[in-house]
Amino acid sequence: MPVPPVDAENPEAVVNVAAKRVEKVDPALIEFPPEFVWGAATSSYQIEGAVDEGGRSRSIWDTFCERPGAIADGSSGAQACDHYHRYRADVALLADLGVDSYRFSVAWPRVIPTGSGAVNAAGLDFYDALVDELLVAGIDPAVTLYHWDLPQVLEDAGGWPNRDLVDRFVEYALAVHGRLGDRVARWITHNEPWCAGLLGYAVGVQAPGRRETHNALAASHHLLVSHGLATRALREAGAREVGITLNLSTASAPDPSPENERAADFANLWHNTLFTDPVLAGTYPELAREAWGDLSDFSFIRDGDLEITSEPIDFLGVNFYHPTFVRAAEPSATGPGRMLFDLPYAAEPNEQYERTDMGWIIEPEGLYDVVNWLARTYPGLPPVHITENGCASADEVIDGQVKDDQRVRYVTTHLAALARAVNEGVDVRGYYCWSLLDNFEWAEGYRKRFGLVHVDYDTQLRVPKESFQVFREVVQRHKARR
Ligand code: FCB
Repeated sequence: MPVPPVDAENPEAVVNVAAKRVEKVDPALIEFPPEFVWGAATSSYQIEGAVDEGGRSRSIWDTFCERPGAIADGSSGAQACDHYHRYRADVALLADLGVDSYRFSVAWPRVIPTGSGAVNAAGLDFYDALVDELLVAGIDPAVTLYHWDLPQVLEDAGGWPNRDLVDRFVEYALAVHGRLGDRVARWITHNEPWCAGLLGYAVGVQAPGRRETHNALAASHHLLVSHGLATRALREAGAREVGITLNLSTASAPDPSPENERAADFANLWHNTLFTDPVLAGTYPELAREAWGDLSDFSFIRDGDLEITSEPIDFLGVNFYHPTFVRAAEPSATGPGRMLFDLPYAAEPNEQYERTDMGWIIEPEGLYDVVNWLARTYPGLPPVHITENGCASADEVIDGQVKDDQRVRYVTTHLAALARAVNEGVDVRGYYCWSLLDNFEWAEGYRKRFGLVHVDYDTQLRVPKESFQVFREVVQRHKARR
């Protein structure tokens, strides 16, 4: 196979690969059951801006963005999409898109700026108004409580490795529910504890940027305990639907030798089962002790914790971007200095795949596989909602239009793969496209565009892309069949 050309700005992003290029699926061929929910997703720090308004305190992302080299373009979410002031126009975009539901997150530092105690009513006013605006437009709000913007004051108290944060999170969850619970039916406790726990505390590429071992496992565990206790508390307070969102990636070995299969087990531990087992089965994978027994004694797991982490949920949110293909390899480090991610596998080169601007491979079958894997692995799996799926492409506005052909192909092929799983019996009830708007893509800053709507960050002009029109067509055709 010819070596694919590499994008100079992002050496990982391989472009123009023909072999596995996916082709657009005709929206007329994408069919889901009538009650299937259509949505779009965003998160607070990525779009709101207004970091100094309404009594908001600093979050760990404000701090992390100030660290030299942490964000690829040196930017921050200080302004982002200025959604805090432009939410009405953004809700109008959602209405035009025709979605049933909008998934957004609440910024904890707006609600309890001091980390515990007094609730800041002014901070909640913004979400109150947003919820009303959505309801008037006929769109159901789906609220994520934690999409990574921890109040800095709680990181100063030790961050997620400190078990006290569990109680702080429950307090915060109840404060948000107390204000919005009369109008919000769907609650997501956490977004991607893998990122918050492991990218934040083990790999260090996301806030708070710590590179630790035992503490990172403790952070991940405490996130899940806080999820379970918040789920109970929200339910007692009358919440109708409570779930958690996990980012999952099927981990498999295309070359199935016993060594490679075992390598895939480790990849599965790292990407999936460290989180899916405690939430869906009330256990930790046995492989966890084998993988990390030299780095942690797991003493952060207290009696009764696994009953809490596996508190029944009304739905499981799944974020899916790409599958993971691995083969056996020596870990990059062993012995002292070894990190959690030093595990005995390496990524396959995957040269035959087309990649997005993130450098992630495009393989829609991965979405089919991941929901089937869940259904097979976890008897009694609650209904699934795909709470994020989408792609970053190097979009440009030309003559007032954005022809984002790659995103059109990505989204329609993933929907077709998902529809196949659903029509074969996997209980998936909704799909939220990531994202409504181009936004602050964490460590990548503003260089990566995931939106159905293009945002010019100088003028804040929004331009719906071609993918917006195509997604709208899928939704409209579906609604016409309801
Ligand atoms: C997910 C995050 C979301 C967004 C997408 C691209 O991991 O939940 O905020 O950045 O990736």
